[in-house]
Amino acid sequence: MRKFIVGNWKMNGMSSDLDEIVAISAVAQLHPSVDSALCIPATLIDRAVTAVGAFPIGSQDCHMQRAGAHTGCVSGDMLLDAGAVLTIIGHSERRAAQQEQDSDIRAKAEAAKAAGLKTIICVGETLDEREAGKALDIVLGQVAHSLPEAAAGDWLSLAYEPVWAIGTGRVAEPTDVADMHAAIRAALVARFGAEGEKIRILYGGSMNGDNAAVLLALPNVDGGLIGGASLTAAKFQPILAAAQVSGE
Ligand code: PGA
Repeated sequence: MRKFIVGNWKMNGMSSDLDEIVAISAVAQLHPSVDSALCIPATLIDRAVTAVGAFPIGSQDCHMQRAGAHTGCVSGDMLLDAGAVLTIIGHSERRAAQQEQDSDIRAKAEAAKAAGLKTIICVGETLDEREAGKALDIVLGQVAHSLPEAAAGDWLSLAYEPVWAIGTGRVAEPTDVADMHAAIRAALVARFGAEGEKIRILYGGSMNGDNAAVLLALPNVDGGLIGGASLTAAKFQPILAAAQVSGE
């Protein structure tokens, strides 16, 4: 399986950052055996797509409706119209701050698929949940309830992101990552059969150039969702390089 390395710029990115996006697309081209993409604020998508050409640009959310009375929201059709080819759905920051539930995430993923966007659905436990020994139950519950019935196919990837590892510099132990990814894989195969083997499972949470090689070499870790270390080409490049090596 080709590794999939996706940057998540969160609420960062102004016109003045378009040059950095172009630089990131340029380093991505130097790693042709790795699939990569950058998910940026909706305000920049159109200009970024014009600037980078074929490099995949995505969004960080997508509304569940195609159009209508939803002030401030952006639909999958609109994102596609702006040039996006993928979207992140159900990031833990949105689950927490926007109170997104598994059912919302499932509906959004269905809408993204209908619009023709590739989709990354995020799952992950909080520190309290891990310390209470509930990490596996929480994550497998999110997987069960956030994924649409028609999940199988290369339009979908999952990202396992322990909430306590996001933006904290605290990376999950490789054995814990491997265990969780194996459990997610087993759940996908139980539900979707052989197609469940093909859904890429990314790890996210403080992945950077120093730890990417170890994480990306783990079984069932098919890529990474990268926040802070995706903001510059200089930080993103070593992760792409590690993905290239682990994919060989
Ligand atoms: P981080 O963010 O790499 O900055 O921890 C990852 C994410 O939130 O997707």
